[in-house]
Amino acid sequence: MSYTDKMLRDDALKGKVIVVTGGGSGLGKAMTKYFLELGAQVAITSRDLEKLKSTAQELETETGGTCLPLQCDVRHYEEVENMLQAVLKAFGKVDVLLNNAAGNFISPTERLSANAFDTVIDIVLKGTKNCTLAFGKHWIDTKQTSSTVLNIVTTYAWTGSAYVVPSATAKAGVLAMTRSLAVEWAKYGIRTNAIAPGPFPTKGAWDRLLPGDLAEKFDMAKKVPLKRVGDHQELANLAAYLVSDFSAYVNGEVVVIDGGEWLKGAGQFNLLEAIPEELWDQLEMMIKAKKRS
Ligand code: HXC
Ligand code: NAP
Repeated sequence: MSYTDKMLRDDALKGKVIVVTGGGSGLGKAMTKYFLELGAQVAITSRDLEKLKSTAQELETETGGTCLPLQCDVRHYEEVENMLQAVLKAFGKVDVLLNNAAGNFISPTERLSANAFDTVIDIVLKGTKNCTLAFGKHWIDTKQTSSTVLNIVTTYAWTGSAYVVPSATAKAGVLAMTRSLAVEWAKYGIRTNAIAPGPFPTKGAWDRLLPGDLAEKFDMAKKVPLKRVGDHQELANLAAYLVSDFSAYVNGEVVVIDGGEWLKGAGQFNLLEAIPEELWDQLEMMIKAKKRS
């Protein structure tokens, strides 16, 4: 058994209708593929319909499942409402909203125009709000129970991070929304959870966060105690569990999947890892010698 293996039983998502925003590429595509393999019907949405169509076709061929491509810019509430209606028309219902769409790029904050800052906030925070509000209203109005919202945040949603300030600000808002609605909407049978991934290489993220030779200069695997980046299947395994009925009692949780990366940056003495094994005998003697002074 390996972390790249598929975790859940074959029919784990049978009968579920899932919407994955930003499902045409990267992690959204990887999660969609696994949901289809587990028997779900999945709508993938983003701004680029041609990309969505080719992803849907590829995934349908690979999995034998049903994948519906729908254009929708999550920044616009009207487009989100239209997308929801299209999903209901195609599948008759929707059970899961996976807020995965995002925008991000590295930049010193003082170099950002007001519009640049807004663009990221609008995709990540306002987009997640738009989808969550539209789907939540629908579930509450139709008295549908057992619905799930799963949000993709980042580990810097709670620590913050330099050079990606709009993204950190927006993801922190999504984290607050996750925990708030987990309580408020539980009475309607809506569970709200989040995943905070560490580094999982994708073209979308790496082109904007590690452009040029930055990917070699700042090898993300070196920042991770487990000394590797994430594999898409292990994220898909976690997402599938969190949208399945196996996690029916999990609500308001934010699951970090980062090999220990953010804690390594946080622990005050974690840098002592650089001390070679043989030096510890000397250090221990020095410390013990000070005991009586
Ligand atoms: C400074 C920039 C910029 C940059 C864009 N802008 N890129 N400013 N540095 N590198 C400015 C533009 O000049 C413009 O401001 C404003 O931002 C909007 O840019 P547009 O190109 O018009 O926006 P749009 O076409 O809507 O594209 C949105 C985008 C783009 C966010 C800029 O990168 C995108 O489409 N991203 C989607 C995919 C993505 O980002 N994936 C990565 C997710 S990774 P002005 O003032 O000139 O009009 C992630 C977490 C990863 O979220 C964590 C890893 C560990
Ligand atoms: P990605 O492939 O670039 O995914 C982002 C998706 O969002 C794209 O499919 C994009 O599609 C869509 N999108 C962007 N703006 C949109 C808009 N206005 N409306 C609708 N869709 C929009 O990058 P990724 O790495 O897979 O990221 C997926 C998620 O994981 C994001 O939430 C990201 O913050 C999170 N994450 C990633 C990592 C990582 O290491 N990769 C780490 C932590 C968190 P279009 O361009 O076609 O619209």
